[in-house]
Amino acid sequence: MDDTAIPFARPFIGQEEEEAVLRVLRSGWLTTGREALAFEEEFTKFLAGVGPVQSFAVNSATSGLHLALEACGIGSGDLVLVPSYTFVSTAEVVRYLQGEVVFVDTQPGTFHLDPEALEASIQRLMRGEAAYKTPSGRCFGPRGLPKAVIPVHYGGLPHNIDAVMAIARRYDLKVVEDAAHAFPSRLEDGRWAGTIGDVGVFSFYATKTLTTAEGGMVVSRDAEIPRRIGLLRSHGIDRSVWNRYTDTQASWYYAVVAAGYKYNMPDLLAALGRVQLARAAALLDRRIRIATAYDEAFQGDRHFSVPPTGPGDARHLYPLRLNRETLSISRDAFIQQIQAAGVGVSVHFIPLHCMPYYQERYGLKAEDLPASMESFHRVISLPIWPGMQGGQVDRVIETVKTIAREHALDA
Ligand SMILES: Cc1ncc(COP(=O)(O)O)c(C=O)c1O
Repeated sequence: MDDTAIPFARPFIGQEEEEAVLRVLRSGWLTTGREALAFEEEFTKFLAGVGPVQSFAVNSATSGLHLALEACGIGSGDLVLVPSYTFVSTAEVVRYLQGEVVFVDTQPGTFHLDPEALEASIQRLMRGEAAYKTPSGRCFGPRGLPKAVIPVHYGGLPHNIDAVMAIARRYDLKVVEDAAHAFPSRLEDGRWAGTIGDVGVFSFYATKTLTTAEGGMVVSRDAEIPRRIGLLRSHGIDRSVWNRYTDTQASWYYAVVAAGYKYNMPDLLAALGRVQLARAAALLDRRIRIATAYDEAFQGDRHFSVPPTGPGDARHLYPLRLNRETLSISRDAFIQQIQAAGVGVSVHFIPLHCMPYYQERYGLKAEDLPASMESFHRVISLPIWPGMQGGQVDRVIETVKTIAREHALDA
């Protein structure tokens, strides 16, 4: 990339982040310890007002989702409902546990799982039918009782989570909120996305709204689930390594009481997270300013549909939709032209039911979930990262509008 290229994403790392990492490097303790504990406490405090949540720092949201499902009792043959319109982590964790994935289509006009489609899927499964039925009457896919649903707060826009919760409670399903994009996202009544279901999982991957390079946080208000997550996160060992190695009086003895995983977050990364958490409001403000500039530029332009938004949107992504009916250029060629102009863009997401692994496993075809395909074929994610300068935002807008003008079909 040349010097003037605008990357799709870039973490906002300042002097405080550098100093925090150096502090840990010089401290004599690199892995999970004081910093990770402090990060968890500060995260819990940030979410205060929703009742007592417990927070567990982990090495990725993928690990967090795996722990969340395990702690919800998902096991071999259990069915878990997952939107097709998401990143692969949301579904693969079901397979880690030998569960079966049932994909749910997107609510038209949004990028979120469709509550109506969710309920229809659950009812089919409860009647003992296969998970999918095409308009032509072909029935296929896994059979069994649904045990959980994983709504995704796509792009940082809070999901219509109360509708999902009501359905889940009616059919006795656990709810794991995939809040990978949703820090800090609030529902209209002020509740935080990620704190409403049985478990919520945030991602701190390098492109996310808060980053620790790799990492995540699992939160839960449940009475039982947190204990299990705490245990499984560190090999199923009944006490923390930090105590064993740093307290010279501590007993060397430990007991393994479950088959756990190594999903802990090292202090080196937690230190980064603490600084980013303290900056959360400022980082959100910068993303909102960029998104607002995009909204103003593209709203009312016949070639585009701006993404749905609301007051509590964390604005992690800016998924602009092309109105293909007014353009002579395909979405893929549009992307190539944006990239050729030195602007990084992406596509969120390629629906999972199109992926060879899931197609082969469940006999799915792209057209089986038409609303997800409709979004996929039209969407382009524009760059939206806190360090973007006003001139860069203007250049993205100008680049996109120019390509549309050059390929406009007559009105
Ligand atoms: C919706 C969604 N869920 C989960 C994840 C997994 O996050 P991580 O990379 O922290 O494992 C991602 C990552 O991009 C994501 O987009």
